[in-house]
Amino acid sequence: MLTADILVLGAGIAGCTAAIRAADLGASVILVAKDALGESNTGYAQGGIIGSVPESANGEKRDTPELLASDIESAGAGLCNDEAVRLLAEQGPPLCHEFLWERLQVPFDQDASGEPDPTAEAAHSVPRIYHAKDATGLAIQLALSAAVRSHPGITVLEGRVLVDLLTDPHHSRDPRHVYDPITVWGAYLFDAKTGAVDLCLAKRTVLATGGLGYLYLHTTNPAGATGDGLAAAYRANARIVNCEYIQFHPTSLFVPGKPRTLLTEALRGEGAHLVNRKGQRFMSKYAPEHMELAPRDVVSRAIFQEMAASGEPCVYLDLRPVAARLDLETHFPNIMAICRAEDLEPTRQPVPVVPAAHYFCGGVLVDLHGRTSLPGLFAAGEVACTGVHGANRLASTSLLEGLLWGHRAAEAMVAEAGGLALPAADGFAPWTPPEHAEATDPLLIEQDWNLIRTTLWNYAGIVRSKARLEQAREDVGYLYHRIDRFYRSAALSRSLLELRSGIICARLILKAAQMNKESRGCHYRVD
Ligand code: SIN
Repeated sequence: MLTADILVLGAGIAGCTAAIRAADLGASVILVAKDALGESNTGYAQGGIIGSVPESANGEKRDTPELLASDIESAGAGLCNDEAVRLLAEQGPPLCHEFLWERLQVPFDQDASGEPDPTAEAAHSVPRIYHAKDATGLAIQLALSAAVRSHPGITVLEGRVLVDLLTDPHHSRDPRHVYDPITVWGAYLFDAKTGAVDLCLAKRTVLATGGLGYLYLHTTNPAGATGDGLAAAYRANARIVNCEYIQFHPTSLFVPGKPRTLLTEALRGEGAHLVNRKGQRFMSKYAPEHMELAPRDVVSRAIFQEMAASGEPCVYLDLRPVAARLDLETHFPNIMAICRAEDLEPTRQPVPVVPAAHYFCGGVLVDLHGRTSLPGLFAAGEVACTGVHGANRLASTSLLEGLLWGHRAAEAMVAEAGGLALPAADGFAPWTPPEHAEATDPLLIEQDWNLIRTTLWNYAGIVRSKARLEQAREDVGYLYHRIDRFYRSAALSRSLLELRSGIICARLILKAAQMNKESRGCHYRVD
């Protein structure tokens, strides 16, 4: 059995920040990574993170919390939580500067004075994005992982998958606890190497398990983004909101048979054009005023409609207008390497792209300190819904939100844990595997994933309708029962746990999308 003051589930920007801050404050911390430390969705973020912008030489403020808040609210389509937006706009950029730049020394691109050189991005009123070429997330993740590894107060567990949150009364041995409020005291963790399930007892637990992009056929997320934290919070009865709001990124590289890879929107910001197979630009039909710089949902729908009308599996992104203005090798080395690995030469030909599921704007509802509706449980990052993103997310806000809520959740958890004793471990049931557990067949798991991913892509994707959502709910509902039955009789494996998370999250998305008949932000209903 493992014990800690603070259990952090997930090791991207939110999880690592929470772990570092809690350990700085003197708490004993266990940080759980599903893969090796360093492999997380944070590492795949290309664009950047909003940082503080110094005043100009004549003392003029170039950015203000009010201006940032207003950009976030416009993207969020009237559904943002104003308080959360204000908090992010006021506290986020200075924290980015102090923690990532000054303390962790993330190598952001710099100006002549050696300070971060903020860049512009579509829908941001002023240049305020700190970036490290076109691989900002990776630079941040490397710095965070190194800080976590060297912190004496943090124990890192790698290759562990969340099985269930440890809750009283669900896992209590004492039936009289049924009268108590549901309280989280840690988690059951599957060790992918040994196959054992450990009980980890903690005074406070934070979910920082990231998003669920892998539920969609086309996604910019890695295969580990299977919604494990959201599904576990759902099983424990936490409040979950806004699951219909899945943000699609307009441009991911389309190579048949290969996973999609993000092609940052900074490319369109720098002048890249979207064209069809004949090389014709088409955005004038859909957004004549803003063309390729229209909001993400508008560009994604335009591409979707273009593909549907032409019957083609993709459209193309022409980087040659960018190459005419700046050196692609210097500014987008990562993108150039990604394309060339697929034998594509962006300086000579447009590259094939499709929209892809990118970011989950809903999640486990949290307050300004990351507290969920369940005592003992906090959440931060993509798994959480702070209300900052509303119905659609402004680019480069997600890393900042993970950073700020990871930091704040750590402070609140340590304060709460101070007055607590861990409950007795023998008050909880150990994990019991099913008798005569069946081995899982990887082919069957892959088949079920194909069904989930194609169903969500086709029926709950960029464009949704009553008929499609009804059909999807029936199909996914049937699959849910089958997977649930199988889960109860099978030997645990990472892939089985992820499949169980995936089917639960698919149901949550479909239910929310079906119930919400209003098109808003990234939830678009043709009916
Ligand atoms: C991008 O680089 O296009 C993605 C940035 C973001 O999603 O915030």
